[in-house]
Amino acid sequence: MTIESDDDLTALAAVGRIIRETLAEMARRLHTGMTTAEFDAIGGAMLEARGVRSAPRLAYNFPGHTCISVNDEAAHGIPGDRVLCDGDLVNIDVSVERDGYWVDTGGSFPVGPPSKAVAELCAHTRAALRKAVFAAKAGRLINAIAKAVEGEARRGGYNIVDGPAGHGVGRFIHEAPTVANIYSSADRQHLHEGLVIAIEPFLTKGSGVIVEADDGWTLKTADGSLAAQYEHSVVITKGNPIILT
Ligand code: CO
Ligand code: CO
Repeated sequence: MTIESDDDLTALAAVGRIIRETLAEMARRLHTGMTTAEFDAIGGAMLEARGVRSAPRLAYNFPGHTCISVNDEAAHGIPGDRVLCDGDLVNIDVSVERDGYWVDTGGSFPVGPPSKAVAELCAHTRAALRKAVFAAKAGRLINAIAKAVEGEARRGGYNIVDGPAGHGVGRFIHEAPTVANIYSSADRQHLHEGLVIAIEPFLTKGSGVIVEADDGWTLKTADGSLAAQYEHSVVITKGNPIILT
């Protein structure tokens, strides 16, 4: 969506704060021995208490409150009876709706002390998000975001997961435009003031090729490599974007 009033911004920021806090609390309570369904229930209870509805459930009838993707699962993992263990890398994606406003966030968090490889993957993917956010300015090409993500991936020796991408958000969970993580010179769309988008780079040490699991939801790396993702919903301005999450 494109923001049309102060009320739009106020409403989006309020919903954004809720999912930022939910994501942070889930990350704090992540521990070895819990199932992904138990973990998702923590988020579900927080969303319910704050009067917001799970976006994937509302929009797509997703079987969970949040998406919980472990290790080689890049996105859209279904919470279930899988037991989380030290050494796992868990991606939490929290997106919700309230009063017709939709906002999206996510992040990857290690269970227990991370290996050097996991810590570096997370650090570079966080850096890719940060650089992409600051590259997103009104008047620039949307693929300035992909350029920033690619620059950080190259610096760390990572590939970009080919498939999941950022997107417009605000009046629905997935709106136009697609906010690609992989640069394409053919993409001539520009960012404009007030545009609300979710920016979400996914990095991996593997090839970046993705396959859909038999459950019809989970996107996994084809070669079994770990993937990490961090996501913010932002409002585009002429300067640095307003980070909603
Ligand atoms: Co998300
Ligand atoms: Co998203």
